[in-house]
Amino acid sequence: MKQFTSVKDIPDPIGLVQDTIKLKNNHRFSDLGKNKTIGLLFFNPSLRTRMSTQKAAQNLGMNHIVLNVGQDGWALEFEEGAIMNGTTVEHIKDAAPVMGLYCDILAIRCFPNLKDREEDYSEKILQQFIKYCNIPVISLESATLHPLQSLADMITIQEHQKQHTPKIVLTWAPHIKPIPQAVANSFAEWAVGCGHQLTITHPKGYELSEHFTEGTVIEYNQEKALENADFVYVKNWSSYHEYGKILDVQENWLLDNQKMSITHHANIMHCLPVRRNVELSDELLDSENSLVLKQAENRIYAAQIVLQKILETNF
Ligand code: CP
Repeated sequence: MKQFTSVKDIPDPIGLVQDTIKLKNNHRFSDLGKNKTIGLLFFNPSLRTRMSTQKAAQNLGMNHIVLNVGQDGWALEFEEGAIMNGTTVEHIKDAAPVMGLYCDILAIRCFPNLKDREEDYSEKILQQFIKYCNIPVISLESATLHPLQSLADMITIQEHQKQHTPKIVLTWAPHIKPIPQAVANSFAEWAVGCGHQLTITHPKGYELSEHFTEGTVIEYNQEKALENADFVYVKNWSSYHEYGKILDVQENWLLDNQKMSITHHANIMHCLPVRRNVELSDELLDSENSLVLKQAENRIYAAQIVLQKILETNF
């Protein structure tokens, strides 16, 4: 594995989930990464991704260097041929190869700006790091995808599913500000990649890019979607078609115990952070059906298996 930016980088996603569960249960610590360094670049805030990836690197004996690019780094220029007489100080063509000299693997968090869909969906920042850093790259959530989160989610489902073909529902939830589509896009392509049946439910206008939802069922009626569900993944996202906008939604999309009563005693999932009683109610987050802490724990092993595969195949 040279890079980890999407389920498409993985030849066998189901095998990767199974390998991760074996690692978690039997081989948590090794020195495979001894004398190797991972650089963690954050253009945006993080709790889980930062700490779980550091912990995963430690479990493999790796060193890590964290750079909060958005706060501490030089302002980077990404335009080819730019005359840099404005606010940007260093071009990605110069910064990325330097980072490649200091690190063996580079991991990058770069959210979308939610203003220019074409630019965000071209993954301009992530792709230029891949182009210029000359070392393997891991996405810590890009403009369109969050693959480490989705791998952790697939592991969590595998650990908790009681039947061969569970019904999985991804439901849109309310939020007070525009949120990227990355977690939802990524969950959809990983669920399909792992052979799951996924139903996505959202208000009209919140359709995700078909590029990521191929193979899923779209059901606009939330209650109908929830019928007999085994797993309910709750997530807000802003509009893809009216790009980055929050649309007017009249119906109540907040999940509660009453709505969950039509499911198959479903497990509730959310990637966190969550705005309690806006996106998801206290009664569900604090219930025995909530898997949110299991998902967060599995972020360690998702990162660790990806680091392990990259170390095994590139060094
Ligand atoms: N789920 C997730 O990526 O959390 P952080 O934004 O805190 O890293």
